[in-house]
Amino acid sequence: MRQIDPDLIARLMDRERRHFLQAHPRSAERFAQARGSLLGGVPMNWMVRWPGPFPLFVEAAGGAHFTDIDGHEYVDFCLGDTGAMTGHAPLPAVQAIARQAARGITLMLPTEDAVWVGEELARRFGLPQWQFTLSATDANRFAIRLCRHITGRPKILVYNGCYHGTVDETIVALDAGRVVPRRGSIGPPVDPASTTRVVEWNDLPALQAALSHGDVACVLAEPVMTNIGIIPPEPGYHEELRRLTRETGTLLIIDETHTICAGPGGYTRAHGLQPDMLTIGKPLGSGVPSGAYGCTHKVAERIQASTTIQEADVGGIGGTLAGNALSLALMKVTLAEVLTEEAFARMIPLGERLEQGVRTVFRAHEVPWHVERLGCRVEYRFQPHPPRNATEAEASEQPALDALVHLYCLNRGILLTPFHNMTLISPATTEADVDRHTEVLGEMVQELLG
Ligand SMILES: Cc1ncc(COP(=O)(O)O)c(C=O)c1O
Repeated sequence: MRQIDPDLIARLMDRERRHFLQAHPRSAERFAQARGSLLGGVPMNWMVRWPGPFPLFVEAAGGAHFTDIDGHEYVDFCLGDTGAMTGHAPLPAVQAIARQAARGITLMLPTEDAVWVGEELARRFGLPQWQFTLSATDANRFAIRLCRHITGRPKILVYNGCYHGTVDETIVALDAGRVVPRRGSIGPPVDPASTTRVVEWNDLPALQAALSHGDVACVLAEPVMTNIGIIPPEPGYHEELRRLTRETGTLLIIDETHTICAGPGGYTRAHGLQPDMLTIGKPLGSGVPSGAYGCTHKVAERIQASTTIQEADVGGIGGTLAGNALSLALMKVTLAEVLTEEAFARMIPLGERLEQGVRTVFRAHEVPWHVERLGCRVEYRFQPHPPRNATEAEASEQPALDALVHLYCLNRGILLTPFHNMTLISPATTEADVDRHTEVLGEMVQELLG
């Protein structure tokens, strides 16, 4: 196995930082100005998570590309961390925004689009009853509340290393078997051990033990972990998860917000999962705030039997702008014309091409690094073995190399997702975009190995 010299990584990083500073004077200026009015100089706190000294300010985005205010063009493999998996500004969505905005944006009354979207989500995911939110976070929040309500149980169960949005019960971690606030958790309202059980992904005995207490209302799970890098379930895991949840009267919520990359009906349809509830958001409205949660007839009956019309507005689910006419028009057009079966039939082979490109680079340079793909989402780790869970993933992280690949790519017109080495394909991404990434990655590995 070939070794990478840490001093070389540091020298390359210095060079790339200098290049970044020289190439982006206008973004630097705007960032300095922004610090005067925006907390941390950014409109949303995650936007500080870039490898350069400041984030790029964007001039415009279209399809799989965007330009910054210094006039550089980029291939966007971050795609708004999946919010723009549709590609930026897809024409049907732009037209639908104009059309619906002129006909009313929000009313506290349904439009006919809601019925179409409910039926289409039912067709895609196999769950018959739906409600809408403005984000995947809210979809998860409301699904959890409903599960607690109908089961009368106080806790939920999530996986170590998960991310399901800014949902209090899920900002947790396992520390030597204890449930603690996740590192960086801001103002946890209560001790998360009182709301949440946490187990490692792919650890069935731990799952069985956690559910055996009989106090868990629901398991909230991505069907493949994506937020600590892609970690697939081991063979048979989902069957056992479903068996154990049923056996213990625990509901199962599958969060498809990222794993929609696996196909038009997400991982759930591709693998025949049978959740009690399913949540989704991010690209559902082509970037216009949209989210949804679905449930089985059985869950729907339990909800209807235990909630009243008189208290529908104060029970802690829903929201004034949720289910608004604009979001629904955008969900309809996104499902009907953008994230279609045909789009996935193009996107997934491009994901395979990207995966193959990365693998070829690693093999050609005899580095034992690892690439993983889920549909049109591809991710690589500078680690020899695919991790089984979050603890293994964190233990073998290579932060210096991760930072370098992000900045190296950015300086050559390629945007990766900041939180890990993730590349996502949109319907507008081309073979040339994919091959450019392979080429740049190859150049970086060549420089590292001499
Ligand atoms: C799996 C998953 N669920 C839910 C969310 C929350 O999405 P949002 O921040 O759009 O509410 C995220 C965000 O990254 C996610 O990765």
